[in-house]
Amino acid sequence: MSESVPADGGASAGSLGLGAQILDWADQLAGHSDQANSLTVAYLTRAHQTAAAEIAGWMIEAGMQVEIDAVGNVVGRYSAQDPAAKVLLTGSHFDTVRNGGKYDGRLGILLPIAVVKRLHEHGIRLPFHLDVIAFAEEEGLRFQSSFLASSALVGAFDPAWLDALDDDGVSMRDAMRAAGLPGTEEAIRALRRDPARIAAFIEIHIEQGPVLLERGLALGVVTSIAGSVRMTASVIGQASHAGTTPMTMRRDAAAAAAEMTLAIESRCAQAPSLVGTVGMLNVVNGASNVVPGRCDFSIDIRAADDATRDEAVVDVLRVCEAIAQRRGVAMSFARTMAVPSAPCAEPLMDLLAACVERVGVPHFRLPSGALHDAMMLSRITNTCMLFVRCGNGGISHNPAETVAVEDVDLAGLVFLDFLRNFRA
Ligand code: GLV
Ligand code: MN
Ligand code: MN
Repeated sequence: MSESVPADGGASAGSLGLGAQILDWADQLAGHSDQANSLTVAYLTRAHQTAAAEIAGWMIEAGMQVEIDAVGNVVGRYSAQDPAAKVLLTGSHFDTVRNGGKYDGRLGILLPIAVVKRLHEHGIRLPFHLDVIAFAEEEGLRFQSSFLASSALVGAFDPAWLDALDDDGVSMRDAMRAAGLPGTEEAIRALRRDPARIAAFIEIHIEQGPVLLERGLALGVVTSIAGSVRMTASVIGQASHAGTTPMTMRRDAAAAAAEMTLAIESRCAQAPSLVGTVGMLNVVNGASNVVPGRCDFSIDIRAADDATRDEAVVDVLRVCEAIAQRRGVAMSFARTMAVPSAPCAEPLMDLLAACVERVGVPHFRLPSGALHDAMMLSRITNTCMLFVRCGNGGISHNPAETVAVEDVDLAGLVFLDFLRNFRA
C-alpha cells in the first residue's frame, strides 16, 4: 500500500484526490431528507432508510460486504485475508439534527468508504478487517435517545428504549418493525461486539467549531470528548386569562422557565470548558391570550472533566428549584442522558499525529466539546479521533456547515497512512 501514500509526505499530499468524490457523495446523501427544504434525517424515517440504502450501495461498490444490523446501522466490512484477523472499526452517524449540515457524522462514513474503494481498486488488502459503520442514530432527534446505534455495539442498549415514543406516539419497537428490523431485545443484544476481537476505533469528524480555522490548520488530533448530562424539565404554573390576571397574581410557567434559562447560561459561563444549553422550550397548550400554565424545556450541560460538569448540574438544579419556589410554580426534572467524558488512547493519538505531520500539517491536539460515537466505543476498545477544519466560522448543526475539498483530501491521506501503520 505504501506506493499509494506520497513518499514526500506533504508536497503532493492532495494527490489521492478523494476529497471531490467524498463531497459529491455528501451532496447526494443530503438529497434524502424528512423535510423538503432542509436536511433533517431522524431515526428510521423513510429518508433515513433510503440514505442507508445509498450508503450500502457505495460500500458494495468499494468492495465491502455489507449488512444492515438490528438497530439499522449500515456495516461494511473490508475483509483481511486471514478470517481470524482482528477488526479495526471506524465510522460515524448519518442521522442529523433538524435543519442540519451535510458533513456532521457523514464525513466519517464517506471518507473511509472512499479510501477502501481506492485500496480495492489497487487490489490492496489490510492485515486486519476494517469495518466501516454508518451509525443509524447519534443525534437523538426522534426518540431523545442519543447513541442508541453505537450503544448496541458495546452492550449498552437499554431495552426500555424500545418503548420510547416519538412525537406521533410511535414506539421505537414499532418504528424498527416498520423498517424491516426485528425490533427485539435479543436481536439487539446479539450486536454486542467481543472486545477481544476489536483492535481499536477511529472516528473522523468535522470539528464543529472554530479552533482549527482560527489556527489555520486543516486537521487536528482529538485528546478527549466532553461528557454530557441531558435533562428535561417541566415547570407547572397556572394557565389563566392573559387579559384579566393581574401581573402580581400570575404563576407564569414560561416566564419562570425563561429566568431558569438565564440562570443556566450564567452558571455555565463560570468554567473554561463548561457549556450549558437550553435548546428546546415548549409552552404546552400555549396561546397568545393565555398565561402559560406549563413549560417544558431541555438542559444540556457539558465539560471536559466530569467533576466540573457535575458541580454545575447540582448548582443548576438548586437554582431552578429556588426560582420555582419564589415564583410559586412546581417543577420536575428527568435525566435523559449522562455520559462520562472519554479520553482518547495515547498510542493512537501519537500514531495519528505522526500521520498528520507527514501530510505537512503541524500537529495540534484539541478536546471535543461535541459528543461522538467514539465515546460509546471507548467502553470496549481504544479510540482516537481526527478532526477536519470547518469553514464558515466553524458553524455546525446548521445548513451553513462546510468543509474545504483540500482539507478532505488531506484527511483521506492521513486515514490511508493510519491504516498502513496501524498494528492490530
Ligand atoms: C452531537 O452532535 C452532540 O454533540 O450533541
Ligand atoms: Mn451533531
Ligand atoms: Mn456528529
